[in-house]
Amino acid sequence: MFPERRLRRLRRTEPLRRLVAETRLSVDDLVAPLFVREGIDEPQPVASLPGVVQHTRASLRTEVAALRDLGVPAVILFGIPATRDPEGSESWNPDGIVQVALRDLRDEVGDEVVLMADLCVDEYTDHGHCGILDGHGSVDNDATLDLYQRAAVAQADAGADVCAPSGMMDGQVAAIRAALDGSGHADTAILAYSAKYASALYGPFRDAVDVQIVGGGDRRGYQQDPPNAREALEEIRTDIAEGADMVMVKPALAYLDVIARVRDDVDVPLAAYHVSGEYAMVEAAAANGWIDGDAVAMEHLLAIRRAGADFILTYLTRRAAEALNG
Ligand code: PBG
Repeated sequence: MFPERRLRRLRRTEPLRRLVAETRLSVDDLVAPLFVREGIDEPQPVASLPGVVQHTRASLRTEVAALRDLGVPAVILFGIPATRDPEGSESWNPDGIVQVALRDLRDEVGDEVVLMADLCVDEYTDHGHCGILDGHGSVDNDATLDLYQRAAVAQADAGADVCAPSGMMDGQVAAIRAALDGSGHADTAILAYSAKYASALYGPFRDAVDVQIVGGGDRRGYQQDPPNAREALEEIRTDIAEGADMVMVKPALAYLDVIARVRDDVDVPLAAYHVSGEYAMVEAAAANGWIDGDAVAMEHLLAIRRAGADFILTYLTRRAAEALNG
């Protein structure tokens, strides 16, 4: 007789539910991905990411100050350069868009916000791949590491707290760590996009950065294959051994099993990237009146935390922070 009401008893009131909640979502868990575009005077909306814009240098400053005021601990920057070339040289130009934006933001917010920089060359190459092409249209792993080292030093010189390599080249973390240490940047941390899958969910992001891969190509030659989870653990362990301070699984919701397995396996801080397509699907359904977008968004973020992520890179950051503060 006695056990039949046991599980419902603690669900009776809102404070009871709050008291026994196993997982919490806080503003401290959120990182805002932000786009900054060279040579524009007004922020440009991104059609497939409602509410997300390509910032001007000035509007980026305003946005990061607002995020600081909401208590958001970190942002991650993506640049859209005015010119592109085969090597993506704007990614290490000291006057490249992300480097000038990092200096602006350090000036604006000091140490009150963690400044992360996505470290890849796909936004900067004219062919749209994440590295330098060999003669056969494939990305040359070791030649690309050299480019990443230059970009890491440029980002750290400009004041990045964290470099976040997202190109999925083998050996990228070791190469970047060596470049940072060798240039007086031993304190610059590395957040490795360790288990980054070749996902169709990045579609809207490529609109946001105006990147098309040449010849309708894809990134399956370097990003991870979606069927594989054990391989993600190999990627994660390798990156930690190479010196990653924090690791990431990306995308998030279709890979919650991977997040949970990584959480069981390692003790370094674990990030998850709730990517552009995950955001866009909720926005589209909500715009049709088919779901309560804000409620679904919070449920999704909580699920990512429950799976084991310590923090989440998400385009929902500002809205979620406003809701959590409210
Ligand atoms: C590569 C990079 C991508 C994303 C973050 N870093 C795109 C890709 O790998 O094609 C995707 C993020 C998103 O979809 O929100 N620099």
